[in-house]
Amino acid sequence: MDSVGLFILLILMFFQFTAAPAAEEITWTYTGLVGQSEWSAYFPECGGTSQSPVDVATTQTKYDPGLTAVTPLGYSQHGNKPFTLYNNGHTVVIELPEWMGLGGLPWLFTAVQMHLHWGSGGPSHGGSEHTVNGLSADAELHVVHYNSELYPNLSAAMTQRDGLAVLGILIVTGEETNQAFNSILNYLSRIRHADQKVFIPAFDVQSLLPKDLGRYYRYNGSLTTPPCYQSVIWTLFHERVQISKAQLLKLETILYSSKAEEADRMLLQDNYRTTQPLNHRVVFTSFSAESWKEFSSGEVTAIVIGVMCGCVGLAVVIRFIVKTIRFFKLLHRETVAVNSSTSSWDVLPSNRAAPMPRTKEPEKGQEKKQDMALNSTSEPEKKEEPSPQTEP
Ligand SMILES: *[C@@H]1O[C@H](CO)[C@@H](O)[C@H](O)[C@H]1NC(C)=O
Ligand SMILES: *[C@@H]1O[C@H](CO)[C@@H](O)[C@H](O)[C@H]1NC(C)=O
Repeated sequence: MDSVGLFILLILMFFQFTAAPAAEEITWTYTGLVGQSEWSAYFPECGGTSQSPVDVATTQTKYDPGLTAVTPLGYSQHGNKPFTLYNNGHTVVIELPEWMGLGGLPWLFTAVQMHLHWGSGGPSHGGSEHTVNGLSADAELHVVHYNSELYPNLSAAMTQRDGLAVLGILIVTGEETNQAFNSILNYLSRIRHADQKVFIPAFDVQSLLPKDLGRYYRYNGSLTTPPCYQSVIWTLFHERVQISKAQLLKLETILYSSKAEEADRMLLQDNYRTTQPLNHRVVFTSFSAESWKEFSSGEVTAIVIGVMCGCVGLAVVIRFIVKTIRFFKLLHRETVAVNSSTSSWDVLPSNRAAPMPRTKEPEKGQEKKQDMALNSTSEPEKKEEPSPQTEP
């Protein structure tokens, strides 16, 4: 074998070696050589048909009245034991104590960790993983739980269907600072490099969630990072959580995906996966009617009460008007009955026949006609109908 042939063989062996190392050794990224479009080459499940995140097209969702509010368990009972904050090179992770869990699903789930996904503040305005009608939020919080009723631990659960339940919270920016998020953001400067870890004071995890836990999107999906196991029952809340622009900027610019000892510092940005095809999956909603989606449950209650009061008020007004009309008509008739047929009252608009002595039978016929006309405009009056005329 000549030297050129040997060289080519060595090159081929080199590529062979670099192209297919064991999946555990692969350092995956969001862009570049092992970027998201290449994940499935190393992690086959990433090429599956039930992947996450997805775009929620609200007109394609299906209302499931059986979807009751999810209930965070022990989220506010954080105790005194500190939380661990960790930069794993892909995101910032807050490990959660095992007494925290999630109810409102067919099984009890135990909390494991939460983490964030964000963008880079560029013109793309991406950041969240899930999108709604094609629109991204600025960032997204995921609270990860495993099915502790069916499986002994996270590693056993994460590969199984219904093994995990993840809460997705879309984050947008506004004017006000969200103090709850500062319980995390204030400590990011201590874990700027990948693999750094720090203990932080425990805090109320529920304060990171939206107030309305009753309205959400539900679908079956996957982990949004390799190995992309298709084991997640997703709950994406309809209500978004707001942080300030300064808070988002801090999240977007403070962390590195590179390790402290690495010479080239790489900012940890745009750590969100693009939306994946639904492939015949259905996204269910816990709430109905398109128009109600704009309101929180408190607002809906207020609107319902308002509409009810309005209806009662309208009924009272209609009843008053009808009674007044009836009173004047009765008054008119009495007057006509008393006066002669040439009375000036006759020029008033009236479909009544010529005045006649007051007898019961024709009188009743007249009143029926009148009531029918009234009933066509006023339902509530129906019950009252016979009272004024039947008196002797
Ligand atoms: C999880 O549970 C499985 C099955 O019982 C067990 O084999 C495995 O060692 C456990 N893993 C951890 C990390 O505890
Ligand atoms: C998820 O998959 C399970 C098992 O196949 C099925 O029973 C359930 O209805 C699915 N849930 C949703 C929200 O599609």
